[in-house]
Amino acid sequence: MQPLQTTSLRVANNRLFILDQQALPQEKHWLPASTVEELVGHIHALRVRGAPLIGLSASLLLALLAEQGAARSRLAQALETLRAARPTAVNLMNNLERMKQALAQENWVAALANEALRLVEEDKRLCDDIAQAGAALVKPGSRLLTHCNTGGLATAGTGTALGVIALAHQQGKVATVWVDETRPLLQGGRLTAWELGELGVPYQLITDSMAASIMAKGQVDAVWVGADRIAANGDVANKIGTYSLAVLAKFHGVPFYVAAPQTTLDPGCPNGEAIPIEQRAGAEVTGVAGSFGCVQWAPEDARVYNPAFDVTPASLISGWVLDSGVVTPPEVAAGVFAKSIL
Ligand code: MRU
Repeated sequence: MQPLQTTSLRVANNRLFILDQQALPQEKHWLPASTVEELVGHIHALRVRGAPLIGLSASLLLALLAEQGAARSRLAQALETLRAARPTAVNLMNNLERMKQALAQENWVAALANEALRLVEEDKRLCDDIAQAGAALVKPGSRLLTHCNTGGLATAGTGTALGVIALAHQQGKVATVWVDETRPLLQGGRLTAWELGELGVPYQLITDSMAASIMAKGQVDAVWVGADRIAANGDVANKIGTYSLAVLAKFHGVPFYVAAPQTTLDPGCPNGEAIPIEQRAGAEVTGVAGSFGCVQWAPEDARVYNPAFDVTPASLISGWVLDSGVVTPPEVAAGVFAKSIL
């Protein structure tokens, strides 16, 4: 396969590498993802993460394994193993569905490589189109609040919500970005803060519990988040903590926008209740780990509840900003997502 480089994915010498998102921002390591087991391990540990990126990494690995001579039956098995690596982000399932169709073709080795590369190129375009559509909604002098990480680290392109913010900044419209640190895994504090710094976008890092007080003081003009799955009725699964931001935004009269590519739509999923929510290890809540080390503050035997995502009902969302443009609440109520065909 031809060499490829995005912010957090690399194909070199026919091997896949991922930028370790658990070590950032203190350390920058490129790790090999040469086998299904290796990539699934990286996905579970969130060394590779973000809804679009996990789908792309899985697709690239399948294509590379095919080029290395893996049998079709082994690839079919590998595809199912990768599909089950994380349950909530539907981009993984949607990308692998397209890879499955490529695997069914007569010239499947070439078809898999072409499809994986096409998915990467498509994702870059989707990000650009989301950014254009979203930046048009950002008013000059805006103080924007974002949650988790939705930038170049999480996609092949400029990102979803963070791509909107980056373009609005280039257009001179962003006064500051409030970055939710995003407990428990700190994607905001570690990754979004780093990306905004690299882009030269002014930001202030806050703990998740500070959002209410800055909204009450009138210091947030809009909230921008990404999505892991958008159901047919417009309900959105995204990083845990998104729902509380949406409730706060509604209470304070702050617009709440969801930015996502069409690969995040799941027209077959009727509503948020039907979205599977990943439960993760208690150790993520009882302490913290990263390239800075590992600490535990809770008692050894603390019982933990750790859902990785929550669901924001459509009624709290001001607009769904897709690559195809801004979808409004009346359009969602009229069933536009239920009819969408990927
Ligand atoms: O658990 P993560 O870090 O993969 O969760 C990521 C998110 O929730 C993002 O907001 C979402 O995937 C959109 S990424 C463009």
